[in-house]
Amino acid sequence: MTPEATTQGGGQAAAGPASSDATNTSKAHPRPRSLPPVLSKAPPAAMVIFGASGDLTARKILPALARLADRGVLDDGFTVIGVARTAWTDEEFRAHVAEATPEGGSKWKALTARFKYITGEYNHPETFSTLKAHLDESDRLDGTAGNRLYYLATIPSVFGLVAEALAEHACTRPAEGGTFARVVVEKPYGRDLDSAIALDEQMHAAFDEGQIYRIDHYMGKETVQNVLALRFANAIFEPIWNRRYISQVQVTVAESLGVEHRGGFYETAGALRDIVQNHVMQVLALTLMESPTSTEADRVRDEKVKLLHAVDIPTPDEAVDKSVRGQYTEGFIDGEKVIGYRQEQDVSPDSQTETYLALRLRVENWRWAGVPIFVRTGKRLPARVTEVALTFRSVPFLLFDHRTSRDLRPNTLVLRIQPDEGISLEFGAKVPGEKFHVRSVAMDFSYAEAFAGMESADGYERLIHDAMVGDATLFIRSDEVQQAWRIVDPYLKAWSEPGGGMHFYPAGTWGPHMADLLVERSGDEWRNPVIDLELSGGRLTELPQ
Ligand code: BG6
Repeated sequence: MTPEATTQGGGQAAAGPASSDATNTSKAHPRPRSLPPVLSKAPPAAMVIFGASGDLTARKILPALARLADRGVLDDGFTVIGVARTAWTDEEFRAHVAEATPEGGSKWKALTARFKYITGEYNHPETFSTLKAHLDESDRLDGTAGNRLYYLATIPSVFGLVAEALAEHACTRPAEGGTFARVVVEKPYGRDLDSAIALDEQMHAAFDEGQIYRIDHYMGKETVQNVLALRFANAIFEPIWNRRYISQVQVTVAESLGVEHRGGFYETAGALRDIVQNHVMQVLALTLMESPTSTEADRVRDEKVKLLHAVDIPTPDEAVDKSVRGQYTEGFIDGEKVIGYRQEQDVSPDSQTETYLALRLRVENWRWAGVPIFVRTGKRLPARVTEVALTFRSVPFLLFDHRTSRDLRPNTLVLRIQPDEGISLEFGAKVPGEKFHVRSVAMDFSYAEAFAGMESADGYERLIHDAMVGDATLFIRSDEVQQAWRIVDPYLKAWSEPGGGMHFYPAGTWGPHMADLLVERSGDEWRNPVIDLELSGGRLTELPQ
């Protein structure tokens, strides 16, 4: 990470102990002494968004830029050139920008007045010669100083094409010393190992690896980054962060939403490509990797890739045995009836695409050998929850009568990535009363409470900022992407064979029954994250059984 990326907010008064806030400051949750860390100022640049009329641009990229502008992060020499096939004029694009960013303040509005738009096909040279002319003009008129940030927010099949065309039109090499040309590439990066390697070849023909910023918005989440802080800023966890003390790890990425209007895209993806190959692998790597020697981008990424190399790659038979895939049928979410996946718009009535997936992975190294790593993700599950739960081994000998300690569960450390971001530790406590009843309770750290009043940048805001300042720490390197595909490819191959199997689950349930058996075979069970979410609130809380 660059030092600027973590700079504290400039010059604003701190809520010190003498302030009126001090009376509310509890010992358990000391109030922060300074205002939110701000992102450092970005250099001038022309940002070219390919896919500028698309969903991602409107929902994520433009709102993130608007917030960056209003925080004062964007330079006066910043502009956007949108490129897409939709036939729009500059004015129509600006109207679209205004509609997508209703919250945008005066700084943002001032910048947007000069945004430009190019209607063009990605395989037509004119699109790129017009772009080159626009970029040169921006340098002269808008002060963009020769810096370019390309953002590939198109359909993935044109990523390579766009990179090649940019190179052919002399847009990929920095014009002179000190200027930069970087490209942010959205996911999915390939649809299997071979296509990811082919895409890398196309990208590397146009850009050096150091210019390529493969984005995974999970890495922009504060709570994902906090895994590093938890592990490497505290002395108490690391000595027990291994197979001697941890008996299993569960990663859950659950969503209550269905595929919404993205049925067409989802049909080509499925849960493995959409969530596991990228988001889950990244979270797992940060949770299980060794300590990097510094927070420099390549030192962190070296450790992540080493961890991914230790994840077992199953044979096709093993892949079938170690995975359960499912698809939601109609059911109820929050009491509302919802349709099944096969009835969704743009979804085939006999679709074989998985909307749920459970996997049992192994990490074959000295730290994790023998510890089952369970992963599950799904759409239309009962709640939106992303968490990593590390369960510790039981005590070697239980002093207490099993009848009075049957509500005692093994210690579990839960890293709650969303919602209700925080960390909780479940441990046994004596129930008040004469007998020695022992049961599990949870000690909770809540981000919102501990850092009340500190507004953090949202994932896209942080990541776009980092690409602008040239900090690649949170972006995915080529070798990481390829190794993640190597891990998941056998599942894709196994499922394409007859007998690959699909298990159905009603919307609003925790997935197919077969997924329970996958965990039960190891003598374990899935956690129910909702129970903990409802009951933990920064207090010691009894957990219902
Ligand atoms: C995206 C997937 O990468 O992540 C979506 O394409 C999914 O299908 C989304 O809904 C989940 O992100 P988050 O931040 O809501 O957990």
